[in-house]
Amino acid sequence: MRSIFFFLLFLGLFNYASSEEEKEEGFCSAPSVASLESKSKPMYWKVDNPTLSPFHLQDLPGFTRSVYKRDHALITPESHVYSPLPDWINTSGAYLISPETGSHFVMYLAKLKENSRSGPPLHDVERFFFVLQGAVTLTYAHGVSHILKVDSYAYLPPGFEHSVECDTAATIVVFERRYSLLRGHVPELVVNSTDKQPLLETPGEIFELRKLLPTSLAYDFNIHIMDFQPGEFLNVKEVHYNQHGLLLLEGQGIYRLGDSWYPVQAGDAIWMAPFVPQWYAALGKTPSRYLLYKDVNRSPL
Ligand SMILES: *[C@@H]1O[C@H](CO)[C@@H](O)[C@H](O)[C@H]1NC(C)=O
Ligand SMILES: *[C@@H]1O[C@H](CO)[C@@H](O)[C@H](O)[C@H]1NC(C)=O
Repeated sequence: MRSIFFFLLFLGLFNYASSEEEKEEGFCSAPSVASLESKSKPMYWKVDNPTLSPFHLQDLPGFTRSVYKRDHALITPESHVYSPLPDWINTSGAYLISPETGSHFVMYLAKLKENSRSGPPLHDVERFFFVLQGAVTLTYAHGVSHILKVDSYAYLPPGFEHSVECDTAATIVVFERRYSLLRGHVPELVVNSTDKQPLLETPGEIFELRKLLPTSLAYDFNIHIMDFQPGEFLNVKEVHYNQHGLLLLEGQGIYRLGDSWYPVQAGDAIWMAPFVPQWYAALGKTPSRYLLYKDVNRSPL
């Protein structure tokens, strides 16, 4: 009885000590911790190793930062539900955005395990994927293959036969959409990486913008990579017909969606329906980077 008491006391002290330590890390030696962290960890590691929530909230029954409303959703990592992806081998996936929310696309995370392989997209469906962790091999006609590492991506036009394979472990984010035909325009395979894309002009804004797909009419969506230093924010407060699927890759900040203001961090995903007022401010100690799906080049009619 007594030893249990001392054991519990010891545990309590230990917890107290470790929570003090966390506080110190958070407030006193913060800059060095932040810079150490960003130097020693691979790119985008937080997406796959998210801080689920502040530690005192982590075990709070029923607590989640996720929100689902008529015109937007915030899907935070503690709400992800993985299940085997249909037609894929040794892969589990979590659909974060799907037509049930009102979108015309799906966005999902796919965790490829040992000896895994993708299944084909549905008929007439185009696919874009971006590597978040590990490496995958993209193989298409005549056995041509590419190894795609973190920050690399591929766009596969509808009907383009291919497979994504992995012999160890990898995480990718995938967007799929039924391709919207435009007479006289044919989209082509794209395989590339973010760092090879030029910075684009952003009049009136200070964030950095890269587009991962060509802007030509053949493509009915694009994927933007947007970078903000802490303290930078969007000048525009956009309301538009386009839809968005967003994955926060690095950093933290405040996302405004409609009349709600959400603290967000790397690993969080957001669905933005057409015409939801939207705005972002990057805060915290490290830069923000997000990946953003946007439908383009087609009449909304
Ligand atoms: C899945 O991976 C395991 C372990 O590497 C392997 O033995 C198995 O054959 C794979 N499953 C399929 C359906 O290929
Ligand atoms: C990758 O993108 C850059 C910039 O858009 C382009 O110049 C380059 O040719 C692309 N690489 C491949 C292999 O397509």
